[in-house]
Amino acid sequence: MNSLLIYCRSGYEADTAGELTALTSEAGIYGYPVFTPDQGFILFHFYEQGDADRLGQRLAVADTIFPRQIVVVTAHLEDLDKTNRAGPVLAAISDADTDEWKNTLLFVEHADTEAGKALAKFCRKFTVPLRQGLRKQGALTYKEKEDGRALHVFFTDYDNCFVGHSYPAMRSPFANGICRLKFPPKAPSRSTLKLEEAILTMLNDEERREIFREGARAVDLGACPGGWTYQLVIREMGVEAIDNGAIDEELMATGLVDHYAADGFTYKPKFGRVDLLVCDMIERPDRVAVLMSEWLEKGWADHAIFNLKLPMKKRYDTVTAAIGEIQSRLGKKAGGFRMKVRHLYHNRDEVTVTVIKA
Ligand SMILES: C[S@@+](CC[C@H](N)C(=O)[O-])C[C@H]1O[C@@H](n2cnc3c(N)ncnc32)[C@H](O)[C@@H]1O
Repeated sequence: MNSLLIYCRSGYEADTAGELTALTSEAGIYGYPVFTPDQGFILFHFYEQGDADRLGQRLAVADTIFPRQIVVVTAHLEDLDKTNRAGPVLAAISDADTDEWKNTLLFVEHADTEAGKALAKFCRKFTVPLRQGLRKQGALTYKEKEDGRALHVFFTDYDNCFVGHSYPAMRSPFANGICRLKFPPKAPSRSTLKLEEAILTMLNDEERREIFREGARAVDLGACPGGWTYQLVIREMGVEAIDNGAIDEELMATGLVDHYAADGFTYKPKFGRVDLLVCDMIERPDRVAVLMSEWLEKGWADHAIFNLKLPMKKRYDTVTAAIGEIQSRLGKKAGGFRMKVRHLYHNRDEVTVTVIKA
């Protein structure tokens, strides 16, 4: 096969397909997406032999918006024999082996849909004999390592699967491309997990160290009840929390939070500037984009992390328009920021944007 298998949130297939179509044509590589709505993944078929693998080696999931995982497909196995599913999978992996790469990880996965989740236990069980078989035939290292190729076996039901691989630094490190997090019991809202996932997966170690320092300051626009503020406070930042709503009392008791019942669109930082601006207001993406650009442009904040809410149909177009707006407003300064946009696992109809001063 000469295709990429791309996991996404169920309902986001068209957005993922639109994004891949744009990315591939920008790169001068041509193909077409195939998907069924709500299946939680798409296939992208290429015309030129080898293009799927070439793109798989240079398209990082972290640099895309909607994909959760990107797998270079090497085989589509249909109507597997229930008494020996592993045999054809082992053979397909052996056929696709190269001397160039060692396979150092194995993921047996499924779509993030109700039907897919029903396969979770089966996938876990299937992993054990498959791993043994792969190691025995020398197709998987005994030690799990991040720096090799990862093998993916993606079941669409008990009898059909895609087999493929992903490359280090390009793939999501998480099974099914899902970053699972435990809800912190003291956080005032589940929204807290969106910012936690963004901090853990969209920033690198150096950026985290630079931004989240004791004594650093942040503004949280649309802060209540305080899930995002909570993430900043546990990282010892002082926070100006802006919202007409009520904020969690335990957060206020930390002494690190000042709550102002004000409009996020007219609020100015109390001491002229802050290190980080975060914003989770439910507002039109174009309005949020303009507001974020103004803060960064005026130097009111060095860095920004914010969500763009996407209740509309053309989500990919809306996101690219908002990002384009930010880039054009920042003008020459845009090069001084590293920008990422991700549809995170804990997001719903929204994406998270990080704009970090380089
Ligand atoms: C999705 S909630 C934020 C949840 C919060 N991030 C958390 O983790 O708990 C959106 C919040 O934005 C606030 N909001 C909406 N428009 C606003 C505005 N113009 N100025 C300030 N807050 C606003 C709402 O009052 C609401 O509390």
